[in-house]
Amino acid sequence: MQITLDARPFAKLDSQALVTYAFEQDDPIQSALSELDAAVGGALGKLAKSGELTGKSLEMALLHFPAGIAAERVLVVGAGKRNKFTTVELRRLAGAALRYLKSRSVKRLAFLVREDDRNAAAAQAVTEGLLIADFESDKYKTEKKNDKEIESALLAGFASAPAAGTEAAISRGRIIALSQNFTRDLVNEPSNRLTPTMLADRAQSMAREAGLAVDILDEKRITDLKMGAILSVAQGSAEPPRLIVVTYTPPETRPGAPVIGLVGKAITFDTGGISIKPAEGMEKMKYDMAGGATMLGVMRAIAALKPAVKVIAVVPATENMPGGRAQKPGDVQIAMSGKSIEVLNTDAEGRLVLADGIAYAKQLGCTHLVDAATLTGAIVVALANVNVGVFGNNTAFTERVLASARAAGEKMWPMPVDDDYREMIKSSIADIQNISNFKGGGASTAAAFLREFAQDMPWVHLDIAGTAWLDDAKPWAAKGASGVAVRTLVDLVMNTKA
Ligand code: BES
Ligand code: MN
Ligand code: ZN
Repeated sequence: MQITLDARPFAKLDSQALVTYAFEQDDPIQSALSELDAAVGGALGKLAKSGELTGKSLEMALLHFPAGIAAERVLVVGAGKRNKFTTVELRRLAGAALRYLKSRSVKRLAFLVREDDRNAAAAQAVTEGLLIADFESDKYKTEKKNDKEIESALLAGFASAPAAGTEAAISRGRIIALSQNFTRDLVNEPSNRLTPTMLADRAQSMAREAGLAVDILDEKRITDLKMGAILSVAQGSAEPPRLIVVTYTPPETRPGAPVIGLVGKAITFDTGGISIKPAEGMEKMKYDMAGGATMLGVMRAIAALKPAVKVIAVVPATENMPGGRAQKPGDVQIAMSGKSIEVLNTDAEGRLVLADGIAYAKQLGCTHLVDAATLTGAIVVALANVNVGVFGNNTAFTERVLASARAAGEKMWPMPVDDDYREMIKSSIADIQNISNFKGGGASTAAAFLREFAQDMPWVHLDIAGTAWLDDAKPWAAKGASGVAVRTLVDLVMNTKA
């Protein structure tokens, strides 16, 4: 989809649909919308009178072949209450408009921002909303929804000066949204079409195209590094593991500058291993590599956005399978850090691969760590499919991640990980055990396990088990992979001072 800034007055925008939005108030036809209403002979005012146009969030009011303007349709999307309106709503309503028009075979649209949104932040939000909404999970359908394709979007209504700021915002929005879609495409892949080796290949081609350094560690190197935790998960699978490392180095580096490590869980399929999962819903465990795909999407974006800070993504990739060689409940493994782990449940495998991923990120010189993982069913119990669970060992760093989440319009909520949770994973025969002896708090005991490997290094853990997958389509996004956390982590990296 082509997205271009268009400085023409709204009446001249010769698209198949002119999209704008109305706020929920006594008379939703105000300011810029009354100008449009006057141009189309009062048709919007009539829709408002009849109750079809109220400004209620994501309401769609469609006018066909309006006289007086060049566009073939006018679509007014409800924006909700004006005092609650932010770029989050703007991004969503732009996306909802795109999906609404796409299903009606519109190919060329124009998006007109309202008087308070003639700025760069709005241009970025609209661009992101449109491109995220345009993504379909139909790669393996021979008849594609994309036959109905949005070819172009004109962005209009922006202050004419400085156009350069708006252009830059559109290009930033494009990079970020297409990187989020890159992540979604990986997450949607079934496990037979995305083994650890194939994920590494995809990471490698992305890195080469983007101009990033990449190092793929095979089983031999993983063994030489004594990554006993990753290997213990991988040993049950016929597919060999990979440790994917992608590095962005800024144009200028200063000794002592921070280095951000992004560690992402990439279990390309989680059967549970010998502690096998029930059959119902198991097919969804192809998305157990969403944390790793998130970090690869972030790297794709920052390769183009060129932040001042160095960033290293570390993605341990393996299947978790039962079989004659699989690890068994009660086995003791030695992680790369030297810590011994009693594996009481082979289905708590994410924390095992992350333990070695975190240790390796530290060895590579990272000073700050963020991990993302579809780690626990318990986070879904705590936060439903609404918020990402955010855990950390350093209040200031955790606050920065939460601030980035707010800026990026992604819902995240702080969760506890203190010493009392560490107590719950004390092993009687090893340094630590991989599940809790007690009821409840499963997301926090999992985080406490990871904290043992991050130790004193500032670290934030994002549990995305409840948010990485949409069971149903949203008005602004297709069903399937959501690409959650990509935008937040891009914002975090862009706002870290070197
Ligand atoms: N990949 C799962 C967590 C998960 C659950 C992701 C639901 C997405 C949706 C993880 O490896 C797992 O199996 N966790 C177990 C841990 C338990 C054995 C302590 C869980 O949450 O049940
Ligand atoms: Mn599991
Ligand atoms: Zn898992």
